[in-house]
Amino acid sequence: MSVITRQIGPCFAAEVEGLDLTRPLSPEDVAAIHAGMDRYAVLVLHDQPIDDEQQLAFTRSLGDIEHAIGTSLRAPEDYRLPTSFADVSNLDKHDKPFARDDRRRLFAIGNRLWHSDSSFKVIPAKYSLLHARRIPSKGGNTEFAYMRAAYDALDDETKAEVEDLICEHSQMFSRQQLGFTDFTEEERARFQPVRQRLVRTHPVTRCKSLYLSSHAGAILGWPVPEARAFLRDLVEHATQRQFVYAHAWRVGDLVMWDNRQTMHRGRPFPAHEPRDVRRTTLAGDGPTVAQAVW
Ligand SMILES: [Fe+2]
Repeated sequence: MSVITRQIGPCFAAEVEGLDLTRPLSPEDVAAIHAGMDRYAVLVLHDQPIDDEQQLAFTRSLGDIEHAIGTSLRAPEDYRLPTSFADVSNLDKHDKPFARDDRRRLFAIGNRLWHSDSSFKVIPAKYSLLHARRIPSKGGNTEFAYMRAAYDALDDETKAEVEDLICEHSQMFSRQQLGFTDFTEEERARFQPVRQRLVRTHPVTRCKSLYLSSHAGAILGWPVPEARAFLRDLVEHATQRQFVYAHAWRVGDLVMWDNRQTMHRGRPFPAHEPRDVRRTTLAGDGPTVAQAVW
């Protein structure tokens, strides 16, 4: 089975054809997917009518799965999906859209800010794979920003300034930006900040990327307001339209992206309409602060 990639939009997104995810992948297909992710950073596969087991099997064929445990405000007894999925839908366990003022929904609105998945974990995510089961009648696009091109476009002085900076990431920082601050003591303990390098080097291409995320709320050794203003400037730079691909979802789309090289954000959609998109996630290789500098 051949895998054809056709570039779409900016240089870092491509469509993959010739793969049927309802069947096991050959070793050649797996190698082609990894090569495609190294060459691009976002891959789009249309018309994949897969179920949960098939999505898990495809994800596992690419590497180890990152489990979603304690990363949202859903209580374990209210999970709609097993922890091998990140439930990024707007649905409760009865498949009903959350009420507009539901605390779980308001927390999840943090995904509308530019971020990299699991940057709030010591070992952050490698790839995310998002499959569309039900989509709203309008809105709900996912936008991607290419952080490698954003890094390359920095001037030399800024490249030198960011090179060795370490940031602190927490889901509390991203939610604070939206005015969501009423965390319980248990949540404050669970969402303690972790450290991440601001510049990451891709292990295969050895290209550098800015590792930004709305979860970043501090820079070690910097006053907080100065750090946040600096990070905000970098995000503004990195999300200029020439660095962005906007994906308009169709049911059956599977979009996968490399969190080490991209940020993404969800766009708004009508609150009362179901948006059932299911994410599986590949675990990263290790902490970024320990990353070798090439
Ligand atoms: Fe995300």
